[in-house]
Amino acid sequence: MPINWFPGHMNSTRQAIKDRVKAGLDVVIELLDARLPGSSSNPLLAALTTGRPSLKVLNKQDLADPAVTAAWLDFYSAQPHTRAMALDAGEKTPARALIKACRELAPLRGDMHKPLRVLICGIPNVGKSTLINTLVGKRAAKTGDEPGITKLEQKFVLENGFYLFDTPGMLWPRIAIEQSGYHLAASGAIGRNAFDEAEVALELIAVLKRRYPERLQQRYGLVELGTDDAVLEAIGIKRGAKVRGGAVQMHKAAEALLIDYRQGLLGRITLETPEEMAAWRQAAADEEARKADAAEAARLADKERRSGKRKSSSGDA
Ligand code: G4P
Repeated sequence: MPINWFPGHMNSTRQAIKDRVKAGLDVVIELLDARLPGSSSNPLLAALTTGRPSLKVLNKQDLADPAVTAAWLDFYSAQPHTRAMALDAGEKTPARALIKACRELAPLRGDMHKPLRVLICGIPNVGKSTLINTLVGKRAAKTGDEPGITKLEQKFVLENGFYLFDTPGMLWPRIAIEQSGYHLAASGAIGRNAFDEAEVALELIAVLKRRYPERLQQRYGLVELGTDDAVLEAIGIKRGAKVRGGAVQMHKAAEALLIDYRQGLLGRITLETPEEMAAWRQAAADEEARKADAAEAARLADKERRSGKRKSSSGDA
């Protein structure tokens, strides 16, 4: 899918993370969207933070399928130097549990002399500001949000010896896994002008039909689920997205479905499992390797042709 978003502060945020590593960093909190815990994870973060201990926080768990959230927590907890927890950013007690988890990841730091330095990262709209507001106990400005702002790092002292550094929400330059692009778009992490809503809605319908068909039927009063296009059309009819002449405006139908999904009106839904994500990642890596092989074969053939030409022209002489 051609998603052409402008990744905003990406380069400067990347630099801000590198600067934080240089200045001192003990733990990285990666805030993930519990509805897409694989696709919302930044593939560049581990390299940028040079393998610092990591706390994966699956936010918006109130919108996600609890059984799949549990599977993702197991998946992340099994990774080295990593802990995982799920929460709703607006709730105080689970948010405070995050402080304890960070302290356990870096037990040698966290007093007045050696403060624990924690960096929080996440994709746009994942709930970072909400979580920081809950932790700080007041409304904190969104880091990097005001136009022309140069402040790419904000520091919060959460308690004695515990510093939280915030960076602007960040996506990465290229989403190699096609399904991840759809899931990020469906969740609201990517600006609406950067993708085709009908295409994303059709992908969402495909996932819902496979995993939560009854939710679609209940929400839109559908007795049967036909093709993905037929379902989108039926949603459009239910929502009055018709123009004069009776044709359904598919983009209006798509918009209605995406709004319902984002607001949790279809129930608690997770778009991907750890197994699916691993399979997509493998397929994307295989595809990359295939393209690299093809490019190398083309380069060698070119070289061969050039040297053949050179030989024949020296033979001519
Ligand atoms: P960001 O800083 O990472 O960009 O995200 P932000 O906190 O602004 O949150 C983005 C949206 O996600 C907000 O909704 C916020 O209320 C919602 N949100 C954050 N955490 C949770 C959560 O745990 N559960 C649910 N259900 N929603 C969450 P909004 O509609 O864009 O803004 P608002 O009207 O709530 O202010």
